[in-house]
Amino acid sequence: MKIAVPTETDSVETRVAATPETVKKFTALGAGVTVQAGAGSGSLITDAEYEAAGATIAADAAATFADADIVLLVRRPDAETLKLMKRGALVVATMDPYGHEDAVAAMAEAGVDAFAMEFMPRITRAQVMDVLSSQANLSGYQAVIDAAANYGRALPMMMTAAGTVPAARVFVMGAGVAGLQAIATARRLGAVVTATDVRPAAKEQVESLGAKFIAVEDEEFRQAETAGGYAKEMSAEYRAKQAALVAEHIKKQDIVITTALIPGRPAPRLVTAEMVAAMKPGSVLVDLAVERGGNVEGAVPGEVARVGNARIVGYLNVPGRIAASASGLYARNLYAFVETMIDKANKALAVNWDDELVKATNLTRGGAVVHPAFAAKGGA
Ligand code: NAI
Repeated sequence: MKIAVPTETDSVETRVAATPETVKKFTALGAGVTVQAGAGSGSLITDAEYEAAGATIAADAAATFADADIVLLVRRPDAETLKLMKRGALVVATMDPYGHEDAVAAMAEAGVDAFAMEFMPRITRAQVMDVLSSQANLSGYQAVIDAAANYGRALPMMMTAAGTVPAARVFVMGAGVAGLQAIATARRLGAVVTATDVRPAAKEQVESLGAKFIAVEDEEFRQAETAGGYAKEMSAEYRAKQAALVAEHIKKQDIVITTALIPGRPAPRLVTAEMVAAMKPGSVLVDLAVERGGNVEGAVPGEVARVGNARIVGYLNVPGRIAASASGLYARNLYAFVETMIDKANKALAVNWDDELVKATNLTRGGAVVHPAFAAKGGA
């Protein structure tokens, strides 16, 4: 049983899908792990560390993938990479399949069995495999660090002999996993923090972190959470009321961090150009939703945009900005899932295709697109 850990092909990707810790664990299960030379460099892991953990280092991608039964990736493989994999290989990654149906069909055509980690059910047994949470946690932290780095002032209140530096006012929009970590981080740095969300359950969580909750708490708000715990798309009427409240509040803020997402939909636009223009000079906005269309008008993917007197931070791949930590958690998420597909006694692959975690994440199998959300749209 060979496991391949290649270098990511997307140039913005600094993370890696296995760490020396998980290589050691896979080796203990009887797998042989091959890591492409340099695969860990963006995450501060050397080839020597992988080797010491029991991995074989391969000089190039072809040698890494050759005969591999399991391929561990951060991102969905591209067409060139698929050519290097053997038919029947299990490929585990963050597949980002919505809007990329052609790429899903290409994986079916290549004959690989692809698993989308972001489709992992949010049930107790699978918490340890939840890549959305592990990466969003670090994104929320990093958003505050990036905001602080772009803010020409201090975040905590400081009382000095020369006078007092006031505490920064930070407003976090969207209080899911990333937003809650942003609130906690901004609080640790001494900022005065407020936050909003459309899910009523978020209110208590925000307050338990010592931040003030700001929202239009009408009847629609009380119904705004799906059974799965996610936000619904709000009505035009609600969004207008929310915008009026936000417009008033944002004028008094120094830093705004937006994290609002709706599964399978474009990110809701929460901050307009007028709201940005009304902020104080030197204000900073960090848009963590920029890859999904953005919460902030004027955010430019991959850039820090100067708009009037404000800066809008639109960095891509925010977990990759803190790659060593992000890879550490991501690799553990993958290990926890893949371990369930290995028969420990025979030291062989043994996928239980009836397991609810396997069913929920499996996109392609045996040359066909099998996931219900995509099966009608492609595959053999
Ligand atoms: P997400 O990444 O899909 O969205 C981020 C946040 O944006 C959410 O809190 C959402 O309500 C909010 N949002 C959407 N539209 C908005 C709008 N118009 N205005 C303001 N906020 C808006 O969410 P994430 O971080 O994945 O969390 C979703 C839920 O899942 C949360 O309740 C979280 O606690 C829960 N969860 C459960 C886990 C489990 O294992 N049981 C693990 C992780 C999260």
